[in-house]
Amino acid sequence: MPNSEQFSGNKCTIAIDGPAGSGKSTVARKLADRLGYTYIDTGAMYRAVAYRALQAGLDVESDATEIAALAGCLHFEFRNVGNEQHLLTNDEDVEEAIRRPEVGNLSSAVSAIPEMREHLVAVQRQMAAQGGVVMEGRDIGTVVLPQAEVKIFLTASVQERARRRQQQLREKGIQRDLDEILREQQQRDERDRTRSVAPLRVAPDARQVVTDNMTEDEVVDLLERIVRQAEQYME
Ligand code: DC
Repeated sequence: MPNSEQFSGNKCTIAIDGPAGSGKSTVARKLADRLGYTYIDTGAMYRAVAYRALQAGLDVESDATEIAALAGCLHFEFRNVGNEQHLLTNDEDVEEAIRRPEVGNLSSAVSAIPEMREHLVAVQRQMAAQGGVVMEGRDIGTVVLPQAEVKIFLTASVQERARRRQQQLREKGIQRDLDEILREQQQRDERDRTRSVAPLRVAPDARQVVTDNMTEDEVVDLLERIVRQAEQYME
């Protein structure tokens, strides 16, 4: 895992949750870089399970048990490639594949399978065990790391989130209609919020940050200040 060798003792555990398009991936990655912490994108892990399920021809509705078993056979590794962080499953770089829109949509349905989540949550807890991590997802502050010293819930209005998603895709050479993105995003939000296992919700002790009128750097600055304060209370 990147950065883990920099662990020095008074580093805390940071949980960042929020809906799709809240900007949390970029912000979490930049924050981890600044702090010398390890960045863990848990959404990538759910996407990887969805991608492997798709490859194996498994159906979310009828093959939930098989999908959970498949997740149990995957070894996850985050690796730095240039300026990016790539996810490898069983030594194969799946970064490009898991970012495809169809895999993103499927990952929301796949992530509602309880036995599969149990497995990924266990792996994520192990990854965070040494501290000094910024872990990002939907249930980090509520389920995966309820003891995290810093919990942030990042959000933005639906229009702003759809606009950012469109821009992200454009940067990857994918052109998408804004209304289409809005519709898909609302469906995913709804599914992520209403599923019975680990639904997206704000942890009672999380700090909510609405990022509509903030630049990425302003958000990172704010989070860094929050973490620096928390670090002073460590040890
Ligand atoms: O953050 P993302 O869009 O890459 O996440 C992909 C899907 O995985 C998303 O629909 C919600 C799900 N997910 C989850 O259920 N729990 C997490 N901790 C992270 C993501």
